[in-house]
Amino acid sequence: MKREDLERLQWTIIGSNGQTSNIYKSVHRGKIYIKKEIHKEYMQEYINEINCLKALQDSPHFPTLYGYNDDKLIIYMSFCGDQMYLRNKPANWKNQIQTIINVINEKNIVYSDVKQEHLRIYNDNTIRLIDFGRSTIGPQERKQDIHKIYNLAENVKYI
Ligand SMILES: Nc1ncnc2c1ncn2[C@@H]1O[C@H](COP(=O)(O)OP(=O)(O)O)[C@@H](O)[C@H]1O
Ligand SMILES: [Mg+2]
Repeated sequence: MKREDLERLQWTIIGSNGQTSNIYKSVHRGKIYIKKEIHKEYMQEYINEINCLKALQDSPHFPTLYGYNDDKLIIYMSFCGDQMYLRNKPANWKNQIQTIINVINEKNIVYSDVKQEHLRIYNDNTIRLIDFGRSTIGPQERKQDIHKIYNLAENVKYI
């Protein structure tokens, strides 16, 4: 969908809003879209997120980037599902998390906002990682983050 079409959708704000943004949802022809409207003071987070998402478009484990608006700091992306908990944790989570870590490493991304609310389960049981506002691309020490993501997935809360 073109950006003009995305702008014209009916957007509903969703409950779980982020620290840097307002998040909206829209359903169009059976597909769920997310609009992330980043507050003006978080320009750098907007840039980080666009750069990282662009680098991650060939993997199913991250949001699909549908469009963006540099003037309004808006990012249109795919809905990545509900938060991962113990009850919806896929049996093959270790493989999926390993793939996520491999892709992030390949792209030299340092993922810096490791939280349970950023691990999502899409309805096909795919784990998806969201929120690249604090993540950067470039050679930096990465080992610590890898363990953090793995530990988070291993220890997700029950509910
Ligand atoms: N693509 C998405 N799919 C599903 N939920 C999302 C998506 N983007 C955001 N959310 C929800 O909105 C919350 C805030 O989004 P996030 O990208 O973390 O913004 P912030 O940078 O402001 O923290 C997330 O924790 C999640 O609950
Ligand atoms: Mg967040």
